Amino acid sequence: MSNASAGAPSPNDLAAYWMPFTANRAFKSAPRLLAGAKDMHYVAADGRRLIDAAAGLWCVNAGHSRAPIVKAIQDQAAELDFAPPFQFANPKAFQLASRVAALAPGDLDHVFFANSGSEAVETALKIALAYHHTNGQAHRQRFIGRVRGYHGVGFGGISVGGIAPNRKAFGLGLAGVDHLPATYDRAHQAFTRGEPEWGAHFADELENLFALHDSSTVAAVIVEPMAGSTGVLPPPKGYLQKLRAICDKHGVLLIFDEVITGFGRLGYAFAAERYGVIPDMICFAKGVTSGTVPMGGVIARKPIHDAFMKGPDHAIELFHGYTYSAHPLACAAGLATLALYEEEKLFDNARALEGAFADAVHALQGLPNVVDIRTVGIAAAIDLAPLEGAPGKRGYQAIEETFHRQDMLMRVAGDTLVISPPLIFNVNHIDEIVDKTARAIRAIA
Ligand SMILES: Cc1ncc(COP(=O)(O)O)c(C=O)c1O
Repeated sequence: MSNASAGAPSPNDLAAYWMPFTANRAFKSAPRLLAGAKDMHYVAADGRRLIDAAAGLWCVNAGHSRAPIVKAIQDQAAELDFAPPFQFANPKAFQLASRVAALAPGDLDHVFFANSGSEAVETALKIALAYHHTNGQAHRQRFIGRVRGYHGVGFGGISVGGIAPNRKAFGLGLAGVDHLPATYDRAHQAFTRGEPEWGAHFADELENLFALHDSSTVAAVIVEPMAGSTGVLPPPKGYLQKLRAICDKHGVLLIFDEVITGFGRLGYAFAAERYGVIPDMICFAKGVTSGTVPMGGVIARKPIHDAFMKGPDHAIELFHGYTYSAHPLACAAGLATLALYEEEKLFDNARALEGAFADAVHALQGLPNVVDIRTVGIAAAIDLAPLEGAPGKRGYQAIEETFHRQDMLMRVAGDTLVISPPLIFNVNHIDEIVDKTARAIRAIA
């Protein structure tokens, strides 16, 4: 109101933009503005080059502003800006679906496009319900998520998710949701490299939940193979295999939310491949376009897709979709991104550097306030002891210190520092990122 009455807003006016998942007032008193990006670096509005230790927000796996992706988006915008995805389609949607399906293991053969991870999750939950409905099992309506899980911010996603601040202010959520326990116990797992030996038994709780609710009422279990947003919790060895076996025993679908783990983060196209566990659906987003154009989606196993393909030919089989499902710009970006991943063998690079990455990050053990370090694939988390009476404050100090004084963009979850660089990185980048992280930890001690 005040701006409108004062005339045109100043270009430096920070008031109107209500920022997502941000401490708005603190930000606006000392903004962290990113004006450019190339490969492994951001350029701050004041001209400083910052190394990107976060792949943007877990998405820029191919590095920033890569020429082939930029060109594909530019060409696509000039050739076909938009095509309605309901009853019509653009050719690249089919090409990209084939490429994504080819990267997925087993008979995960059919791809439904959305525009974000949150939409991918809502889509997968709805497909699970509709699948059971079409199979005459409409009594299967419950979902099981997991404590500390993050599945985006839709009502379905926050309901199956297990992060209290994302839920507490937003009502009752989806009915009929229960949660597995988180797979983390510091007493047994602190400073583990890769998947912990201890903790597969957390999966056994699924049998108890199935007994409590009667498994015939459960539609699907949804987990991140590696819980990323909560601060990198790798699955204990054997845990995902157990979930798969228990779901199979009870006819319950298993959904992997691979919005973070997809497209190379754990050294494979999907974590499902790393762990040798084939879920019934995979949610993906982020890395599919290396963050350039919003896109997400669900990969479904063939029997799930095929169950819908009945009834009269002219009838719509699934009443779901988005205006921007398979948007031409996103499809063009996705095709160019997947081509880059392949040409530059970026998933192999992630696998090859996993050991060096883990060695470097674990060397931070012993620095002030470091209470745990976890690494898996090219993802690492460093838990700092919270400041007394001010949880999250030390983490916030780390964001400010790394951005303003260490020339690094780093992600923080509460008091946990998270490292997940673009997959075009090399050992020099690892050294620089870890060195700057160490300086920041000391500076805020
Ligand atoms: C596992 C997982 N699922 C879903 C989402 C939500 O994705 P988006 O922010 O694109 O909606 C995220 C985002 O970080 C995620 O990590």
